[in-house]
Amino acid sequence: MEIIRIPRIMREISRELRAKGKSIGFVPTMGALHEGHLSLIKRAKEENDFTVVSIFVNPTQFAQGEDYDRYPRDVESDKEKLQKIEIDYLFLPDVESLYPQGYSTYVTVEGLSDKLCGKFRPGHFRGVATIVCKLFNIIKPAKAYFGQKDYQQSLIIRRMVEDLNFDIEIIVCPTIREQDGLAMSSRNLYLNEEERKAATVIYKALQEGEKLLKQGAQPVDVNLNMMEILKNEPLVKEIQYAGVFDPLTLEEVKEKQKKYLLAIALKIAETRLIDNLLVEV
Ligand code: PAJ
Repeated sequence: MEIIRIPRIMREISRELRAKGKSIGFVPTMGALHEGHLSLIKRAKEENDFTVVSIFVNPTQFAQGEDYDRYPRDVESDKEKLQKIEIDYLFLPDVESLYPQGYSTYVTVEGLSDKLCGKFRPGHFRGVATIVCKLFNIIKPAKAYFGQKDYQQSLIIRRMVEDLNFDIEIIVCPTIREQDGLAMSSRNLYLNEEERKAATVIYKALQEGEKLLKQGAQPVDVNLNMMEILKNEPLVKEIQYAGVFDPLTLEEVKEKQKKYLLAIALKIAETRLIDNLLVEV
């Protein structure tokens, strides 16, 4: 595995690979790697000649007062994991090389970015779209891999790729969970033992929602039911959203339809957690 820190060098390497007719699979991450990340990387390895993983805690996607400064960073342990899984290149840029003095260009995917998480994290998806756009331009992969765990993010990236004519296939991979159902996330590291236990309520509510929808329940009743389950967990501090949404528009669903997105964002103590399930009835 080669570690590349300078965007210009990364661009030269990927240009050479493409010139030789090699396909590049790309997995963007913010590090603190877990099995969720590794599942995307394994898939990228299977489907491409070369695999590039980036680790970059992107400051522009954190709003004021969010956890940018304390976001878990453990590059040494990440490097070991990547070495073991045998990727070709780790792209590890620093903030100044991607956002130098005078940086002024941002990518906004309108509409979708204001829904769900967008309401609670102002500017978040603008930061995500901007950094992913920059990484795509540096690496120019044939395929890029994202997790369903961040469903809204994957939808926004798909929209951006289509709208801006990127020649990149976006592949969305299933959410990897802990044994007890909690979706793996770098932010789970913030949870103490008690909070970690309480966090399982998220997947429980999603599963209950899925069961009810499959039994033919009305979306409004499913919403109420999921809320009830979440509210019964004393460590749940702030339910930002929880319920039944349309998988394409992310609007709240009022009437029965074929496909649903069940999605939850809440805080357990100070830690913000999200999860979702796609349900087809
Ligand atoms: P990060 O949270 O590090 O996640 C990197 C990728 O791993 C994302 O596509 C995310 O959806 C996926 N992922 C995280 N947890 C997962 C899980 N439990 N199962 C499957 N996939 C999972 O998402 C970001 O970083 C950033 O916003 C980024 C796209 C890198 C832009 O900065």
